[in-house]
Amino acid sequence: MSTSTTLLPELSQNLRQQIDAALQHYVNFNTDCPTQLREAIEYSLLAPGKRLRPQLVLLATQACGGAVEDALPAAAAVEMLHAYSLVHDDLPAMDDDDLRRGRPTCHKQFDEATAILVGDALQARAFEVLATEITPAERAARCCAELAQAAGATALVGGQADDLTSQFFLATDTTQAIERLELIHRRKTGALFRVSLRLGAIVASANDQQLAALDTYGQHLGLAFQVVDDLLDVSGNESTVGKRVGKDSQRGKTTYPAILGIEASHERAETLIDEACQAIEVFGEAAAPLRELAQYVSQRNK
Ligand code: IPE
Ligand code: IPE
Ligand code: MG
Ligand code: MG
Ligand code: MG
Repeated sequence: MSTSTTLLPELSQNLRQQIDAALQHYVNFNTDCPTQLREAIEYSLLAPGKRLRPQLVLLATQACGGAVEDALPAAAAVEMLHAYSLVHDDLPAMDDDDLRRGRPTCHKQFDEATAILVGDALQARAFEVLATEITPAERAARCCAELAQAAGATALVGGQADDLTSQFFLATDTTQAIERLELIHRRKTGALFRVSLRLGAIVASANDQQLAALDTYGQHLGLAFQVVDDLLDVSGNESTVGKRVGKDSQRGKTTYPAILGIEASHERAETLIDEACQAIEVFGEAAAPLRELAQYVSQRNK
């Protein structure tokens, strides 16, 4: 497997500009939005994150022969959903973090009530953008239903709920512990990766085979991404990662390194990345950027 990451920065630069312009455009609310709320929304949404999920939307669209411009609303919607989940994840009632994307978390910079409302507003706006900007209406409805499923009680929110109580779970053996952990990771993180690819495919009128291949890629990539996130919490550099490290073990969270150790966690991530890349072989060269992105996920240091 190639370990080259040469393509990604160049590719990201171009897509990133388009993604950031779309994000800015979609949160340009009128004066009915209170000033502090607007500032807090922009502070959290436009902060220097990696924009991986919107990139996945756009790359999936391209792999299926679609146009990036048609997928920008869906790309912006998944990033809004993601940004809301981060703002709420950092709240004192959840992970109680004070650093995000290299800056004070939303509730530290503003206040807790504002951070809760930022999340509420971003989540609502994500669905509004999908409903009003994707055409035809039938496709918009499908995108809304897919994102709602991925964001809801059986996926992202359910995973977050189980993550918060994971320290109270006593596994009888490693296999059971890993099964439980993967169930959390697939929901709290994997579901949004997976739906990003699905939305990109749906916008490009992908056929069933293309949709299934991207879905499988997304499942493996999403899980690998969270394994690496757990590893970065153990051995990452705080100023590079842009968030506090060492917090998972402090809070007794169930993580890959806590159960398997660092070496085996790296190996698990590598295997998942290989499986992700295998899933999209049917696309040939059209999926080269998705393969590059997968390599980046396994090697990332932030
Ligand atoms: C952080 O996601 C939350 C997890 C699911 C681990 P990212 O690492 O993609 O966060 P940003 O968007 O780059 O800040
Ligand atoms: C966050 O997982 C997942 C979601 C926000 C849905 P983590 O709690 O591990 O993410 P970080 O490490 O705070 O970014
Ligand atoms: Mg969390
Ligand atoms: Mg957290
Ligand atoms: Mg984490």
